[in-house]
Amino acid sequence: MSMESNGYQSGFGNEFASEALPGTLPVGRNSPQRVAHGLYAEQLSGTAFTAPRAENRRSWLYRIRPAAMHGRFERLEQPRFHNDFGDGPVSPDQMRWDPLPMPTAPADFVDGLFTMAGNGSPAAQSGIGIHLYAANRDMDGRYFHDADGELLILPQQGRLHIATEFGVLDVEPQEIAVIPRGVRFQVKLPDGEARGYVCENFGALLRLPDLGPIGSNGLANPRDFLTPNAAFEDVEGDFELVAKFQGHLWRADIGHSPLDVVGWHGNYAPCKYDLRRFNTIGSISFDHPDPSIFLVLHSPSDTPGTSNLDFVIFPPRWLVAQDTFRPPWFHRNIASEFMGLVHGAYDAKAGGFVPGGASLHNSMTGHGPDAATFEKASAADLSKPDVIIDTMAFMFESRAVIRPARQAVDADHRQHDYQACWAGLRRHFSL
Ligand SMILES: [Fe+2]
Repeated sequence: MSMESNGYQSGFGNEFASEALPGTLPVGRNSPQRVAHGLYAEQLSGTAFTAPRAENRRSWLYRIRPAAMHGRFERLEQPRFHNDFGDGPVSPDQMRWDPLPMPTAPADFVDGLFTMAGNGSPAAQSGIGIHLYAANRDMDGRYFHDADGELLILPQQGRLHIATEFGVLDVEPQEIAVIPRGVRFQVKLPDGEARGYVCENFGALLRLPDLGPIGSNGLANPRDFLTPNAAFEDVEGDFELVAKFQGHLWRADIGHSPLDVVGWHGNYAPCKYDLRRFNTIGSISFDHPDPSIFLVLHSPSDTPGTSNLDFVIFPPRWLVAQDTFRPPWFHRNIASEFMGLVHGAYDAKAGGFVPGGASLHNSMTGHGPDAATFEKASAADLSKPDVIIDTMAFMFESRAVIRPARQAVDADHRQHDYQACWAGLRRHFSL
């Protein structure tokens, strides 16, 4: 059994309204004495009640049973998924990983989460957790919510059917899903196996960046974000509610599906976005702009212009700049960078960084093209434009150092020889 999609509404952070049964939503009020169809009214707030209007996010849910109805929570052991990024020394080495191996035993989306790195904490309401998932079975009779942060999910292999309290998100590789903090959902795998990346944002809610001199259009356009229309299931059974709360998983018995919201309205809701719709902007004269030109969504920090999380992509694009080294330049940044690849090849590396893989370059750690890429680009014929077609790399960038989890540092799928990709850079200096 699977909750079916009722389609989508377009826009980012809009005041949406949707009802799966006509006449569900109250008119002119949020909490009438009696809700239509015998439903319960419940508010879900994603920002402080008194947050400025432009940032205030909340929704009203009209549901068969309130979210309060479930058994007592007890600890659920899933030791690979956590927010323990350590407080001891962290190596400044460049690091890279092969794809997270597919599980050999049955594992659903929650079982299959593997924490790679992170910073800050849910308690501090600042920082990010970076995870991969590799799963081979549907969540069956099991529902999940993350009270610690909103989830930015990037499938890399296999589609995800994400049934949420607000409706259904069907996402495939090169699309993303954003599940707000606290929203309950269930993931099914239409293709049997699935792998991808998850960024857990403990800080301010993700939002579209300002565009400055770019103008009123460009980068990720708001109309391309899709929020589900209301859909619900009315089923009872011996189900399990899993909660992530302050870095740990908890489970409780629940006698019904919590995906029982018949109608809702508000601006705090899941959404999806197709990364192939990103309007990529670059130089048409010389040099590259900074990679902030590839910003899709960001979570600002308390310091203006300095992000808790920048979600950046490197999509297909033309390279036309003249007298310019066209791949990404060598660099050291104040920010820290975790990269992944959902499709194709990445233009700064000749090999080794493959779909499903990951790399970490922390603050002030030098990195850039490998030796083969440098030699090729330095000799390239710039009289012709170059086009990169088959690619979709991304970066989770953070103002704070991204601390690799112990299990990621020690993982068999870590490439311990990664630094060798720069060893072949030859000395070209001459007087
Ligand atoms: Fe970088």
